[in-house]
Amino acid sequence: MSSSPLTTLPAWQALQTHAAALSGLHLRDLFAADPDRFARLSFSFGPIRADYSKNRIMPETLGLLAELARVRGVEEGRAAMFAGERINTTENRAVLHVALRNREERAMMVDGVDVMPDVRATRARLKTFSDAVRSGQWKGATGKVIRHIVNIGIGGSHLGPMFVADALKDFQNPGLSVAFVSNPDRAQLDEVLAHIEPGETLFVICSKTFTTAETTANASAARAWLTARLGEGAVAKHFAAVSTNVEAAQKFGIHADAVFPMWDWVGGRYSIWSAIGLSVILACGYDTFDQLLAGAEAMDRHFETTSLGANLPVILALIGVWYTDFFDAPAVAVMPYDHRLKLFPFHLQQLDMESNGKGVTKDGAPVETKTGPIIFGGGGSDSQHSFFQLLHQSPRLIPCDFIIALKGADGAGPSRDLLMANALAQTEALMKGRAAADLTATPEALRPHREFTGNRPSNTLLLDEISPYVLGMLIALYEHKVFVQGLIWGVNSFDQWGVELGKELAKSLMPALTEKGPAAAEGILQSRDSSTAGLALAYLQVKAQL
Ligand code: F6P
Repeated sequence: MSSSPLTTLPAWQALQTHAAALSGLHLRDLFAADPDRFARLSFSFGPIRADYSKNRIMPETLGLLAELARVRGVEEGRAAMFAGERINTTENRAVLHVALRNREERAMMVDGVDVMPDVRATRARLKTFSDAVRSGQWKGATGKVIRHIVNIGIGGSHLGPMFVADALKDFQNPGLSVAFVSNPDRAQLDEVLAHIEPGETLFVICSKTFTTAETTANASAARAWLTARLGEGAVAKHFAAVSTNVEAAQKFGIHADAVFPMWDWVGGRYSIWSAIGLSVILACGYDTFDQLLAGAEAMDRHFETTSLGANLPVILALIGVWYTDFFDAPAVAVMPYDHRLKLFPFHLQQLDMESNGKGVTKDGAPVETKTGPIIFGGGGSDSQHSFFQLLHQSPRLIPCDFIIALKGADGAGPSRDLLMANALAQTEALMKGRAAADLTATPEALRPHREFTGNRPSNTLLLDEISPYVLGMLIALYEHKVFVQGLIWGVNSFDQWGVELGKELAKSLMPALTEKGPAAAEGILQSRDSSTAGLALAYLQVKAQL
């Protein structure tokens, strides 16, 4: 990789010149000039068809962007990840979530040791355990079979499993409910507890560290609820855990047979492929989970072995960098036009923003360019009736990803026709816009309000269906996209120091907030700024009256 600063690289400067040359062009004209634009700028890989023709790019743009990727060491970075090198430099860790979906005989090494025997042994345990629970062989403390799964975790120990379980609802065992609790607000846990029977419930405590305050608080509350009804001895039959901190999980009272390990080379937001997927496995069965892994593995092989210019995650990454850095686009909107994928934007928010929301490069120098965008989104067509106004007419440029499954839960029925029509219409409207000249029947005063500039870019991913396999491919596609962008920006996509300060300050505020009266807490709060102290005291005043 070139050691020159990013913006001084000839590849970067060539892109700047190219962006300036394209600035007067409208997507409408690019389509009019090239009837084969879709064929030229779309890509089929197995059950995914990616259309990136509605972007402000020419075929040569991708060549220039691929050159940037090459000089920024994307090929070397990719190889280093698969080789188990410690590319998470600030935490001195390898980044090997790809090992979790390696279903071949291939060895995956960290520090000269093949991690696959441990990975396979854990998969086998997950299968045995989940089969026992699902078949009713694993019984609760009162002899009842398990009918309710409650996943307790937060961040990557929550968003991934919750999204996947929801997306694969059609594959769930109807006799087993699955709920997800993450928020320390007791209201969330209570809502779940109100609908379950303790003797039929298995709590799955997911925490890579087993020290996360929200998760340990919710796990303790769940434990207290259970033991108040079934006694201390019931914990072993009603709790399972997933953690790198196996000792802490066992200390919590969870039986060794129900504690599943993960490893420090699995980042939280990349952990759905590990035992963190246990709630999904319990709900949908191990074979379904294996298909999820198979889909991700197929995307891994494509990412690992395909040249940069024909590599789907790389292409999507480069298009993203193009808008972030050369068009000053602050955000990316992601719209799944499929109810089953409605939680994907939440998963992506953590994946992308926790990975690339960084202000320094790997060597600690301030970044000289923009880095990861703001990710937001929501299901289509609902989002059309909320934030799409801004996408169409705001002066801000917000590139969009549309994700559509060709087959709905009910096949290709009329509801799918309507969904498809809406999704395609939106990408078309964003791209084409509507010129004032076409508004002859509209009163003149209204014309500026009804004009659409168009020239607003989008990618469309058409998925054959929402199967575990396709879902695995989709998630892995975005994971690799985010990684490639991090390599181009030169940031460490695998740490998250930005979440630490708030955790520390919350911990230091807790003694004051657990005090009985405001007077007692005042002393402790003297060291804080007047806003923080004032807000805390307002809380304590209310608390004193309750
Ligand atoms: O606070 C952020 C974070 O560390 C995420 O990266 C992680 O997914 C989440 O907290 C939960 O952490 P754990 O799985 O260790 O409880």
